[in-house]
Amino acid sequence: MSKEEEYATHLPILKDIYTLAKFKNIFEFGCGNYSTKFFLEVCDKLTSIENFDKSWYDKIKQEIVSDKFTILYSAGTSAIGHLKDDDQYDLIFVDSGHRQACMNASFGHAPIIIVHDLGLRRIKRGFVNDKNKCAGYKMFTNLKYCPATSVFLKDASLIEQLAKNPDYRQIPL
Ligand SMILES: C[S@@+](CC[C@H](N)C(=O)[O-])C[C@H]1O[C@@H](n2cnc3c(N)ncnc32)[C@H](O)[C@@H]1O
Repeated sequence: MSKEEEYATHLPILKDIYTLAKFKNIFEFGCGNYSTKFFLEVCDKLTSIENFDKSWYDKIKQEIVSDKFTILYSAGTSAIGHLKDDDQYDLIFVDSGHRQACMNASFGHAPIIIVHDLGLRRIKRGFVNDKNKCAGYKMFTNLKYCPATSVFLKDASLIEQLAKNPDYRQIPL
């Protein structure tokens, strides 16, 4: 699998979840040609923060222009500061540098949190490290596409629907 293909293995998961919940206001850690473009096709508002590669931010800012789109750069874990205490989104997608910190900071700010490149090995190593903040979420990992993508859900009806999809394994938190 090429690097570009590896970058895009979350797309089928984003599309699966969109069939279940029409997320409109999205926050994204890590911008690029896949999730960012998909979100802009379906959402009303996307805030995307690049925290790893400033030149990548410059490139995407120039290439992807939409009045629905706010793109920011903030190095490393300082990106987390853009999620203010009261901020609420329909979905937060984490696909950036420092993704463990970004993911753990996202709990409580959206009923749906999706994390690219989060599979069983990372979960066993304690990637989800703030059990208090993730209380109330159920976690599912899609095992069909590698690198894997995990989904954290709060809504009971969504949880019930995803539990019926054999491509997703529920992971105890
Ligand atoms: C795998 S990319 C995916 C970004 C975005 N979520 C998407 O789906 O398009 C994750 C990170 O890799 C870094 N990156 C650097 N060069 C890149 C490149 N040529 N293609 C994609 N990502 C690149 C960026 O920091 C980016 O935020």
